[in-house]
Amino acid sequence: MVPTSSLTLIAQSTMMRELLKHVDIAALSDFSVLLVGETGVGKELFAEYLHHKSIRESSPFVKVGLASLPAELLESELFGHEKGSYTGADSEKKGLFELAEGGSILLDDIDDFPIHLQSKLLRVLESRELMRVGGTVPIPINVRVICASKIDLITLVDKNLFRSDLYYRINVVPIHIPPLRSRRDDIPLLIRHFLNRFVPDRLVEVTAEAMRILQAYEWPGNIRELRNVVQRMAIFADGAISPGDLPSEITSSSSLDSMHKACNRCVVDENMSFEDVMNCLELNLIKQALVQSAGNKTQAAKILDLSSSTFRDKLKKHHLDG
Ligand SMILES: Nc1ncnc2c1ncn2[C@@H]1O[C@H](COP(=O)(O)OP(=O)(O)OP(=O)(O)O)[C@@H](O)[C@H]1O
Ligand SMILES: [Mg+2]
Repeated sequence: MVPTSSLTLIAQSTMMRELLKHVDIAALSDFSVLLVGETGVGKELFAEYLHHKSIRESSPFVKVGLASLPAELLESELFGHEKGSYTGADSEKKGLFELAEGGSILLDDIDDFPIHLQSKLLRVLESRELMRVGGTVPIPINVRVICASKIDLITLVDKNLFRSDLYYRINVVPIHIPPLRSRRDDIPLLIRHFLNRFVPDRLVEVTAEAMRILQAYEWPGNIRELRNVVQRMAIFADGAISPGDLPSEITSSSSLDSMHKACNRCVVDENMSFEDVMNCLELNLIKQALVQSAGNKTQAAKILDLSSSTFRDKLKKHHLDG
């Protein structure tokens, strides 16, 4: 757990600890960072973390949500405007880059940055000075740029929807934040963290069985979804959260999801006999549980809710007991 002033970033899994080492080094430099990851993985939190770990900490951190800014306002929002530069500009206005002076700016959802303004952004980043809309005098800026995107920008570059020169300019330090389903070890600590935050005055536990289900779920909305689920459960929890307290989207999808994930052959191959389908499914569920438990057989048996002896028998049957 890494608390930095008011923000806490949980990173217990090996994958996240390694990533954080990388981020800590990046924070000390002044290079542009591009954070890439699915929705809810923590891009905004990482951007704040980077800023707070950098020498710019005591200067402003300005977030710009590009997906929610109308394209026609974007230029003046980012770079400011001079009085009378367009109808309605009745006074001069500093843009967000100027407001971030000395600090960092997060250009969130950079994949939504309109192509017609990309050359201007590139010019600003290269020259470290900007021109307000309607302005004639360049204004020097000293701002660290952090960008975030849900998609790999190179796919947009390939389709000519994103300028490659801008892509290379903002992608000096790329940081890929993995989805929660590929770092399930972080789930218990994240749940504890959110329970402490949402019900600080009550000790709420999660039963081992409920935790297994929560760890097996796919979390398409990543940590944001986990946070919301914990918040919902915390309101009603009385002492302990058990499987019956979990939202239906988690309990109903877990067994089906794992079956689908376990085998993409036997669930679609119509020519297999009933016995072959069952054996194939069983074998793949066992393999999947072993991967999930990093080879720990006791834990794999628990994931499948089997006794150790039954699990051992099944390993033998599928020749996995070597
Ligand atoms: N490692 C973490 N430790 C603690 N809280 C986290 C962690 N990662 C994310 N969160 C929390 O999860 C929520 C979602 O994170 P965040 O808003 O940073 O995601 P995002 O990647 O920017 O999502 P989106 O792409 O939808 O904007 C926030 O409340 C954030 O504080
Ligand atoms: Mg975000």
